[in-house]
Amino acid sequence: MGEAVGSVQTVSAVTLFAPAKINLTLEVLGRRQDGYHEIRSVMQAVSLCDCLSFSPGESLSFGCDLPGWKAEKSLVSRAAALLLSESSRRVGASVEIKKNIPLASGLGGDASDAAAVLRGLNVLWRLNLAPGRLRELAAQLGSDVPFFLGSGTALTQGRGEKVIPLPVLAKHWLAIMTPKITRPPEKTAVLYARLSVADYTPGGHTDALVVHLGHDGDLTADSLYNVFERVADDVFPELASCRQAMLAAGAERVYLAGAGPSLFSLHTSRAVAEEVCRGLVGQPVFLAETLGSGELGGE
Ligand code: C5P
Repeated sequence: MGEAVGSVQTVSAVTLFAPAKINLTLEVLGRRQDGYHEIRSVMQAVSLCDCLSFSPGESLSFGCDLPGWKAEKSLVSRAAALLLSESSRRVGASVEIKKNIPLASGLGGDASDAAAVLRGLNVLWRLNLAPGRLRELAAQLGSDVPFFLGSGTALTQGRGEKVIPLPVLAKHWLAIMTPKITRPPEKTAVLYARLSVADYTPGGHTDALVVHLGHDGDLTADSLYNVFERVADDVFPELASCRQAMLAAGAERVYLAGAGPSLFSLHTSRAVAEEVCRGLVGQPVFLAETLGSGELGGE
């Protein structure tokens, strides 16, 4: 179904889900010449997701149901501008976002929205950009964006932009808590800057998990690793009591999501994850499940 905008043929509307992620492992191998850090991480998409609707428009416009969300502060507007520069034609679009993933929470919401914008406008504007070109554009936007073009489970390396899909993880359930605590501006950069050489690891936690997943192994508590656990407690002093609250609610282990401040527990039983969520009051809490590739990608 096509619809004309000016002289341009577009698709009439596209709706995409943009999932959050957790890092099952997140290791920093060292600091790079370009100021970034070399990482090795197993990333996992989860079912907590934003929903983006794209429809034809005279110009580019963005709307979001979350008070305080600003297009100019989001990768979403940069993603759209980047894609527009790939088009030789004058095209516009209205992008409406239903935001469920908390902002600046370590769950990758903005990066996921940006990846959805690349995919959505590629379809709406009938640009037919190849997956490889979309991955290049995604890498220009942010280190986590390329992962969200594929979802599922993946090994990420480099700045995070080199993505190798991994076998689908057996279904797990998560209780995710995103504490309402103040984040410093440029939170991720602040967390990276706080790392010292002693925090660097050679990638063994990640390599072991990749081998384990390749043999259909189950996740164990010791499979998970996050380089930011130490510095997150310095940057977010309130995290310690949030961890305690999750343990008191029935979580056996509590992990930091990305650069935080979200925390999560991981369960093979949905009922147990629900129980943990029920036991947490006063903070935003989300029940989510792990996703296989393509499970939430639909249009
Ligand atoms: O790539 P992105 O814009 O998401 O990164 C935000 C900040 O996090 C960067 O400016 C950089 O300071 C830091 N970073 C890093 N090494 C990475 C990814 C991010 O130092 N691999």
